[in-house]
Amino acid sequence: MSGTSGPSGGAAFREFLAALVAPVEAELDRLLPAAGETPARLHEAMRYAVFAGGKRLRPALVALGARAAGGSAEEVLPAAAALEMIHTYSLVHDDLPALDDDDLRRGRPTVHRRYDEATAVLVGDALLTLGLTLLASEPAAVPAERRRAAVALVGRAIGTAGMIGGQAEDLEAERAWPADAAPALERIHRGKTAALIAAACELGALLAGAEAALRARLAAFGERLGLMFQIADDMLDVVGTTVNLGKTAGKDVRAHKLTYPALHGLERSRAELDRLRREASEVASGLPHLDGLPLSLIEFLARRDR
Ligand code: IPE
Ligand code: IPE
Ligand code: MG
Ligand code: MG
Ligand code: MG
Repeated sequence: MSGTSGPSGGAAFREFLAALVAPVEAELDRLLPAAGETPARLHEAMRYAVFAGGKRLRPALVALGARAAGGSAEEVLPAAAALEMIHTYSLVHDDLPALDDDDLRRGRPTVHRRYDEATAVLVGDALLTLGLTLLASEPAAVPAERRRAAVALVGRAIGTAGMIGGQAEDLEAERAWPADAAPALERIHRGKTAALIAAACELGALLAGAEAALRARLAAFGERLGLMFQIADDMLDVVGTTVNLGKTAGKDVRAHKLTYPALHGLERSRAELDRLRREASEVASGLPHLDGLPLSLIEFLARRDR
C-alpha cells in the first residue's frame, strides 16, 4: 500500500499464511459444533460467520509466535483456531446495527442480515465463550499452567483495557470526536485492534514455552503490527473497493468515524504506516528462528489491499 518495491512484497509471509489456511480451517471444523447439532440454526450461523474466507491472520501470528520460541504451528493449532473464533465474534458484533451497522462482511451478508439480530448477538457470545473454553483446555499436551496463562493473556487483550475498551471509545468518538482526537485515536487503535494482534503473537510463544523476554518482544512486535493493521484498514476504507474488501467501502466517512485518514489525511497516514514499519522492523531484528518472516509480514501488512 505504501511500499516502493513490487507487489510481490511479503511473498514469504504470504506463503506461510497460505500453508496455514487449510490446517486452521480443518481445526475450526473439528472444534466448532456440527451445523446440524441442536440448536441447529445457531450452530449453522456460527459456521456461516467463521467459514467465510477471512484472511486467518491471527492464527498465522500464533503459529509465528510458536516458531519464534522453537515450536511449531501444529503444536498450537487449537489455540490458533480459538483466537480466530474470538476474532470472528468481534466482527459479528462490530457489524451489528447498534455498533457499525454493516451489511457485508467477508464478501457476504453479515450474520444479522443473513439470519437476524438476536442470532448475531448469540453467535458472537457463543464464539467468544467457545474460544476461551478451548484456550483453557487445548492444546492438551501443553502444561496446564501455560494454558491458564494463555486464558489470562487473551482475556486481558479482549477486555475493557483492550478490544472492548477500544470498541467503546470508537463508538463514542463516532458520536462526537473528542477534543484530544489524536491520542484518543491512538488509544482506540491499540485497544480495538492491536491488543488482540499482540496477544496472538505472544500466545504462540507462551504455549511453546518461551521466556518472558521473548514473549515481551513478540508482544511489542505484535503491537506495531496491530497499529499498522488498523491504519491500513482505515485507509482501505477510503481507497479500497467493496468488492475487493468484502465489506462496504467508504463506510467510515459516512459514519463520521474517527480514523487515521479522517483526522490526518492519507499522506500522513502513509507516513505513519512507514514509521511503524520501521519500528516493527527494529523490534523484529531481535526475534530468533524466523529468518525473513517478520520483515515479510511487515511488507505484507504495509501493502495489503484487503
Ligand atoms: C478486520 O479484521 C477487523 C479489524 C480489526 C480491522 P481482518 O481484516 O483481519 O478481517 P478478516 O478476518 O480477514 O475477515
Ligand atoms: C473493528 O474495527 C475492530 C474490531 C472488530 C474489534 P473496524 O470497525 O474498523 O473493522 P471493519 O472495518 O468493520 O472490519
Ligand atoms: Mg468498528
Ligand atoms: Mg466495523
Ligand atoms: Mg474498518
